[in-house]
Amino acid sequence: MDSLQAKAEIDRLVQDLNRHNQLYYIQNAPEISDYDFDQQLKQLEKLEREFPEYVSENSPTKRVGGDLTKKFEAVAHRYPMLSLSNTYSEEEIAEWENRIKKSIDESIEYVCELKYDGVAIGIRYEGGQLTAAVTRGDGEKGELVTTNVRTIRTVPLQLQNDFPSDFEIRGEIFMPHEQFEQLNKEREEAGEALYANPRNTASGTLKSLDSKVVADRKLDCYLYGLYGLSTTEVGHYESVLKAQNWGFRIPSPEKRFIEKTNSIQGIMDFIHFWNVERHNLPFDIDGIVIKVNSYEQQRKLGFTAKSPRWAIAYKFKTSQVETRLEAVTYQVGRTGAITPVANLVPVQLGGTTVKRASLHNADQIEKLNLHTGDIVQVEKGGEIIPKIVGVNVGQRQSLQKIQFIEACPECQTILIRKDGEAQHYCPNESSCPPQVKGKIAHFISRKAMNIDGLGEETIEVLYDKGLVQNIADLYKLTFDQLLELDRMGEKSANNMLKGIEASKNVPFERVLFGLGIRFVGETVAKKLAQSFGNMDALSRAGYDELIDVEEIGEKIAISVQHYFQDSANLALILSLKEFGLQFEAVKKESVSNVLEGKVLVVSGTFETFSRDELKELIERNGGKVGSSVSSKTNYLVAGANMGPAKLKTATNLGVIILSEDEFIKLIS
Ligand code: IVH
Repeated sequence: MDSLQAKAEIDRLVQDLNRHNQLYYIQNAPEISDYDFDQQLKQLEKLEREFPEYVSENSPTKRVGGDLTKKFEAVAHRYPMLSLSNTYSEEEIAEWENRIKKSIDESIEYVCELKYDGVAIGIRYEGGQLTAAVTRGDGEKGELVTTNVRTIRTVPLQLQNDFPSDFEIRGEIFMPHEQFEQLNKEREEAGEALYANPRNTASGTLKSLDSKVVADRKLDCYLYGLYGLSTTEVGHYESVLKAQNWGFRIPSPEKRFIEKTNSIQGIMDFIHFWNVERHNLPFDIDGIVIKVNSYEQQRKLGFTAKSPRWAIAYKFKTSQVETRLEAVTYQVGRTGAITPVANLVPVQLGGTTVKRASLHNADQIEKLNLHTGDIVQVEKGGEIIPKIVGVNVGQRQSLQKIQFIEACPECQTILIRKDGEAQHYCPNESSCPPQVKGKIAHFISRKAMNIDGLGEETIEVLYDKGLVQNIADLYKLTFDQLLELDRMGEKSANNMLKGIEASKNVPFERVLFGLGIRFVGETVAKKLAQSFGNMDALSRAGYDELIDVEEIGEKIAISVQHYFQDSANLALILSLKEFGLQFEAVKKESVSNVLEGKVLVVSGTFETFSRDELKELIERNGGKVGSSVSSKTNYLVAGANMGPAKLKTATNLGVIILSEDEFIKLIS
């Protein structure tokens, strides 16, 4: 391809992919499959590598991040970023509305919106292209975080239709609950400290210098203000609706995320509705914002020093109640981390019964100066787990201060607390029951060995019966042993053994992740597997070699070294090797050409591999991956839960249908 052709092709792909992104994320109406999208994106990446002179700032390849920033540039806001005056009282909202009516002697429309609990952002578009994104900062100047904002899929990179030539749109960037919980789950699995709430996490993420991290965290954004539009625009509500035509995902009027009303009753109704419904949203809001709709009336009302007179925020009271602290108990996690838990006299709070609250660590207990039997204030804000925010000292009866335990409640080993760390740990990794069981549960989990037919309950039983004391013992289990367990039939026993056997084909990086080495999460395991190639090399790697690997810092390097210095771990690794687990990374280069000239379609779900892994295997063995079954298809690799239509088409066309096992046989 010559340079001119390449430019034309890059332009076409950028346009197309930006449009498909919009269809998928904003309109929920995709026109092409994820697979086809990925293929086109790969094609664009390839062309951009070959012709870097044609890479544009708003290329969809920027969505996945990768660019590193040394330091964010400070830039002045074109329009100052003001805050809102706010109140917790409905009466004050009514007073505000009365003041507005007195100042403006015309009919007035109000727009009610959600007050998103995240970080404010101002995004500028010039000629329909996203050119800058600036954080609030001190309201006058903010930080230029454009590269990071480009990774947020609901923020368009390129506008369509009749957009204004140069304007700014403002909104709130936040982390949806699902993402937040997933992130904390991954951190827990990697033995890392958990994040406190979605807002701080979103704010921290947005300021990450590595845009890849931002892309992975999947932030989201809602827009609530437009600046620099032509003076012919009538009102805020109408502008927001218009922004939808330009490609923005706007707050949905159908879901009552935004609503126009001309009365205080309408405003109150909106407040009451969301005061209840906010608990069912997939993200946090901390109140409601009410704005005068007409731009003309907004201009008449003007500003005070800090905030506009034409808007006000009604903030929800975080629900808080008092109850008695009965006792503090301690949980031991998979990594040995000790979490103190407050056991409370059950109390109703925000629609649920609260019996327990997390106390995080010893410092937290010290800070609250907790005593047994204290009346404590429990709050449920944005966070999912309620927390203790204070003690009613006036009602204290007990003189018994809560003392953090010194020994592990499960195995009585003396706890340790490393310098600079907030958490206490039980160092007895190899025989502290919850640590051992937790490690086995982690090993069999979906993202690690994904062993079918084996769940946490069975692990519990196998451990209690002394059949499985560590992960290697799983591979020694026999059919007869399993049959002796309660409620275990022949079929389940067989399934379990089949699942265990199949796990011997799970790629090295997932075996490594499954070992549960502290701080070695999924991504780190992948990096280590790729850099060292096999378990042997990794176990011998020195500190310097380890930190040379991208994304591996001091903490991880020390933890990995520590793991391989432990003789019990080495013995475990040796037996896993003897059982035939994958200890070598599959080379990225092709492994064979058995599938050369063949087109394979993958459908359904599989036991040993994820769909992506299967596709990679096909390509590495010389085959091509097709997106749908056609006359060009040679094989259909059929997993469980596959659609009947696909199977029928394949049968009609005489396509060879392979099971997972048959596929493995074919390539090995
Ligand atoms: S309007 C001039 N609308 O709340 C006022 N702000 O306390 C511009 N916020 O800095 C703000 N949701 O970060 C507005 N629907 C909404 C909002 C909203 C959240 C945040 C925003 C602002 C802060 C003010």
